[in-house]
Amino acid sequence: MSLGRSMIRVGAEERVRGRTIFGYDLERPGDLHLAAVRADQAPARILAIDPGPALALPGVLRVFTAADIPGENRLGIIASTRDHEFLAQELVRQEGQAVAVVAARTLAQAQAGARAVVVRYQPLPGVFDPAQALREGAPLVHPERPGGNLLHERRILRGDAEAALRDSAVVVEATYTTSPLEHCALELEGGRAEYVDGRVVVAACTQNPHYDRQDLSRFLGVEPERVRVIQAETGGGFGGKLDLSLQPFLALAAWHLKRPVCMRYTREESFRATSKRHPLVMHFITGADEQGRLTGLQARILCDTGAFASYGLAVNMRAAVHASGPYLVPHLDVVSRAAYTNNPFTGAMRGFGVPQIALAHEGQMDALALALGRDPLDLRLQNALRNGQATGTGQVLRSGVGLARCLERLRPIYRRWQARAASGEDFREGVGLAAMFYGIGNTGVSNPSTAQLEWGADGRVTLFTGAAEIGQGSDTVLRQLAATRLGIPVEEIDLCRGDTDRTTNAGATSASRQTYISGNAVLAAADNLEMQLVQAARQMLGQHHLELELRGGRLAALDGRRLEPAQVARYLAGQGQRARGAGRFDPNFSGLDPDTGQGRPYAAYAFAAQCAWVRVDTDSGLVRVKEVAAAHDVGRAINPRGVMGQICGGVAMGLGMALMEQFRFGQTDNLHRYHIPTFLDAPRITPLIVEEAEETGPYGAKGVGEPALIPTAPAVAAAVGRAVGRPLRHLPISLERVMAALTHEEAEHAN
Ligand code: MOS
Repeated sequence: MSLGRSMIRVGAEERVRGRTIFGYDLERPGDLHLAAVRADQAPARILAIDPGPALALPGVLRVFTAADIPGENRLGIIASTRDHEFLAQELVRQEGQAVAVVAARTLAQAQAGARAVVVRYQPLPGVFDPAQALREGAPLVHPERPGGNLLHERRILRGDAEAALRDSAVVVEATYTTSPLEHCALELEGGRAEYVDGRVVVAACTQNPHYDRQDLSRFLGVEPERVRVIQAETGGGFGGKLDLSLQPFLALAAWHLKRPVCMRYTREESFRATSKRHPLVMHFITGADEQGRLTGLQARILCDTGAFASYGLAVNMRAAVHASGPYLVPHLDVVSRAAYTNNPFTGAMRGFGVPQIALAHEGQMDALALALGRDPLDLRLQNALRNGQATGTGQVLRSGVGLARCLERLRPIYRRWQARAASGEDFREGVGLAAMFYGIGNTGVSNPSTAQLEWGADGRVTLFTGAAEIGQGSDTVLRQLAATRLGIPVEEIDLCRGDTDRTTNAGATSASRQTYISGNAVLAAADNLEMQLVQAARQMLGQHHLELELRGGRLAALDGRRLEPAQVARYLAGQGQRARGAGRFDPNFSGLDPDTGQGRPYAAYAFAAQCAWVRVDTDSGLVRVKEVAAAHDVGRAINPRGVMGQICGGVAMGLGMALMEQFRFGQTDNLHRYHIPTFLDAPRITPLIVEEAEETGPYGAKGVGEPALIPTAPAVAAAVGRAVGRPLRHLPISLERVMAALTHEEAEHAN
């Protein structure tokens, strides 16, 4: 059986051999090339766009502007906040926003054309700080929008936090901040579009093909049936390929020119044009009683959503919902707000605000441990949510709360490292710990997935799924689930994935939701396929009440007869029918109460704890992470190798967030200036899989994609804090911040 067996992921060999055809590689001879003209200032009013000098250049065929968009020029996945003008109409709201797109015969000609387009701007006053953006009289990023620069506000109110804090034995208060980050997927954005029989066919990297089709049809002003989106092999996303990127340009050019076009972003363009991680400012006041039990939390959170909403609402909601961390906190007063600014727009990035908020709730746990003279692990264990307890939104978790088990798994490692952490003349070592919980799937909204399974007359089974594989491993896991339910080897299942003509909506590959949600849809499809096969077999045998079931990949009757599903499929084919089962799953959720934020935002939660051992060079401030141990409750590891890969990747990404990454427009637009961890920075990572079954999950599974990253930065921050003797509350923990902490200078905001 394939369930729980480590599988080499589908497509691994092709990738290693460099044979995978990514969106970036789809160009064919004769394709036209596109290049975008991007604003070099913002905010600004566009006074004039002169395509003349570009059109005079060899090979340039056309310059598209907002006036060429046949449909809506305001896109965005969250219906209530659609505001992204893919070609600036009148106002440029952030630097790097596209104002025109040039189509030419070669890439070089398109790029030359883009440089030659003349745009005249009138500079406007802008706002670049979210707190200032919310002040009376601040320049408005979207002047036409009711509500000014406040994108969204979310409150989580439970009990009486003020009274609880007043009566607490210990209260700790601090402000934490994080920086904007770039996803840095290995594969840059790339794709190709054609015009075929009155339809536009777009093949490009994406995390969400069915949403892309919806928005592209809106953009072109046509019915969705006239747009086909095919997810190209996608080399990493991390949330950066959830929003549309170059697909609207491809669709627009193919629509007007009726010719195949292709487009690629350079690394610099990818930095400038795509979303960033929201920087958060988090002010936390947390209380505990004398025994160390958490009493209450007051949190004020501010998210900079930049010039466009993108996933700002989702990030803001998640930050608020997860503010109390994976702990039992009886009294809550949390207010989270997301504000527009003229900064580069921020959106989805691995964890949607939860990696940021974890820095705050974990920093507070360490501060409480210090104030109470308690051990950080024991204090967390004492307060850890347990099965049967309620989250901050009042949701009682019946099963699947594996945090205590994660902490117990870490305990011996944590103790050993604590005992071994040393200090010398020019270095100090520290060990830190952090925990998290993470709601699987979209927050407080329906987010169903669908899937189909077909048993072919030739005996092969095909799984149809709209779930985008972006490197996280869903192609492998979904096939394992189907194979397990149908009782056949995973190798006998073919996959048809991410093509809007051939598959149905699985929702986004996002929010760590595909194993849990699409996994359940696949199981439902398998059950439905079994039912179809059984009914057809009864018909075939002329015995309408025969007891039959699918076992070991064959139909077994109570009387001992066996039937190959392929025979039944052939019988059905003779009647012009198919042996095809369909499944759907939508997590059991509720919206949040508009005033109190109480409700059931997710059906399932993942839990994790990580500890880190760091060495700090006291002369330079350089932090070297020696070891990370990561215990993750994934419910059930469908593909343990995949889970471990996610954990190691998440930890590596978390180190970047902890120690080095900070996006500054125009200054860090490449990987020479924007530093992410390399192999040389990687510590030894010990992934520990904990399986606390989620009763609604497919064979108990939850998700791990984002959880893998979430505790890393807070654990590293805690370790550095322990080493230098002062808390580190601002990310990244740069050399300057470490030196300031070592010398006890107040330079927390030093970059
Ligand atoms: Mo993610 S932030 O759900 O790609």
